Amino acid sequence: MAIPTIEFTKQDAKTPSSRTLRKVRSAMERDGAVAFANLFPLPLLKRLRAEVLRRHASGELHARGLVRDIAGRYAAVVPFEGPFLDPRFYADPKLRAMLAGLLGEDYRISSLETVIAMPGAYRQHQHIDAPIRFDRSVGGKKIVFRGDLSGLPPYAVTLCVPLCDVTEENGPTAIWRGSHRAALRARPPGEREIARRFPVEHMKGPLGRSFFFDYRTFHGGMPNHTAQPRPVLMFVFTRSWFRDPNTADVFPRLLVSKRSLARIPARHRELFHLAPASRRALWAAGKKR
Ligand SMILES: [Fe+2]
Repeated sequence: MAIPTIEFTKQDAKTPSSRTLRKVRSAMERDGAVAFANLFPLPLLKRLRAEVLRRHASGELHARGLVRDIAGRYAAVVPFEGPFLDPRFYADPKLRAMLAGLLGEDYRISSLETVIAMPGAYRQHQHIDAPIRFDRSVGGKKIVFRGDLSGLPPYAVTLCVPLCDVTEENGPTAIWRGSHRAALRARPPGEREIARRFPVEHMKGPLGRSFFFDYRTFHGGMPNHTAQPRPVLMFVFTRSWFRDPNTADVFPRLLVSKRSLARIPARHRELFHLAPASRRALWAAGKKR
């Protein structure tokens, strides 16, 4: 049994069938991940790729958008500009319906990053993106929460969109299938236990293939042995109340200008609520009362 791949039909394009949505939900419950053969049209993906590679080649992604450097790959914030403002990307009806089915109707975009594994990037350690913990401290002693959180529904989901063909050679993402259920235990499992208990899968495939993974699913980037950079998009969606601690020190974590925001159709604007451009400024600097 492998992580299932959903192949969308023509009928799914506007509103995915309830059968497709059920498949997505059950894969996410069982495996903590699900792949898509054809979520976005290829011409759109090629435009997104050109924009990312242009910003990469000019050096501005690394210089201005850097979130973190990890084992020879770097993660950078991608602005919602140019092709990224195409609603077929951020508000594809299939994507919206699937995310509403996982995170609730009022889900938000948390961040859009690209992760570029440079030639020679080595294996990234196995990790999960943001465990929620309920530890307390009483008299200086840590008290962990021992309740069973293994059945919690997802609070954050990443859509990984490779912007190139992904092979064993250029650094697929390794996913430990089903490991999301173990992530919130009072004592989180170590790398060896995860490797022993859960099968690992390398997410490979041609440009066009993408996949969801639950924020609790153990994963890690594999080495890039080729001479080409391997760009992927990490598009993170959360429940409206969840804030990703990974980007707490990054501002802005979601980048869209006021002008671009005004161009986003009103029905999709709530998706961008976490962007500074969506906020009302109070106590505005320089204004005397
Ligand atoms: Fe990660």
